[in-house]
Amino acid sequence: MNALEKDQDAEFLRTLSLLYVEDEEEVRRELTRFLSRRFAKVDVAANGQEGLELFRQHGGYDIVVTDVRMPVMDGLSMAAAIKDIQREVPVIVITAYNEMDYFVRAIEIGIDRYITKPVDPFLLMEAVSRSAKMHFHQREIERAREETTEALNQVVAVLARAIEVRDPYTDGHQKRVSQLAGAIAERMGLPAAQVAGIRVGASIHDIGKIQVPAEFLSMPRRPSPDEFALIKAHVEAGYEILGDATFPWPIAQMVRQHHERLDGSGYPQGLKGDEISLEARIIAVADVVEAMSSDRPYRAALGLEAAKEEIRQHRGTLYDGAAVDACLAVLESNPERYVGTAA
Ligand SMILES: [Fe+2]
Ligand SMILES: [Fe+2]
Repeated sequence: MNALEKDQDAEFLRTLSLLYVEDEEEVRRELTRFLSRRFAKVDVAANGQEGLELFRQHGGYDIVVTDVRMPVMDGLSMAAAIKDIQREVPVIVITAYNEMDYFVRAIEIGIDRYITKPVDPFLLMEAVSRSAKMHFHQREIERAREETTEALNQVVAVLARAIEVRDPYTDGHQKRVSQLAGAIAERMGLPAAQVAGIRVGASIHDIGKIQVPAEFLSMPRRPSPDEFALIKAHVEAGYEILGDATFPWPIAQMVRQHHERLDGSGYPQGLKGDEISLEARIIAVADVVEAMSSDRPYRAALGLEAAKEEIRQHRGTLYDGAAVDACLAVLESNPERYVGTAA
């Protein structure tokens, strides 16, 4: 580290708050004096219990430095309790070589670094600096990821609204399909990331309707076969609109396949069974239930009971069995949340 880096390092440390826990008075006094000159704030405790209380009162610290063997509550028990409150706070443990049997427990708790006794204050500073930097770096990555996800959600919401402005009869349809499909996926025990993808895909599943002439979308009568063919084209249109956009999930495929049916009777490709992605099979169930439960320009709502009957009757032939079961279970508990004109 050159002189400039050292200065920057010292400056960085001076912005941090630190909790220091040590039962031996003399060591504590000496190290506290050393640390206080180098950190924005140093709070000191004489055992784990006191340290934990300080941590709670203070609402966390940027870094925790603790001895292991202490009366009342030892350093590792305190670290475990602190990590329960705030998983990511870096904890540095000061230990003697003969305390290495604590090692396994320390790993389980997620201790960040070790310093051996007797403490070399400058080595301790280096350890603190490294841990704190890593922690801040991780926090920045996390924040950037959250911002990106939020931006993505906003764009998707704008897209969804754009479709629904043209097609007032499906106002709220995609949002409700998204909520129901997400709940089904959760119920099926799918991983959180996959559930998130299904929510996004479902919330724009009818995006291709933007290419269907508006008059076809709001006809007060059942569409003719020719007109219906045009409406059906919304799936390929949606697939093309999404094109090469790189989402972290297979969104274009969900959009393209949401009208496919297990027995091959769906469209546009007439895919069968597992050829249809799981995401699309889930969205298909949510879509049918929401559509049947809501008013359409050419008919009043058929009602939730009719929708449930539809998926029950065609469970395993048109609709994915597991998705149907999960959907029925979800609707059992809270139908109003997921469907429009529920009856
Ligand atoms: Fe659709
Ligand atoms: Fe739909």
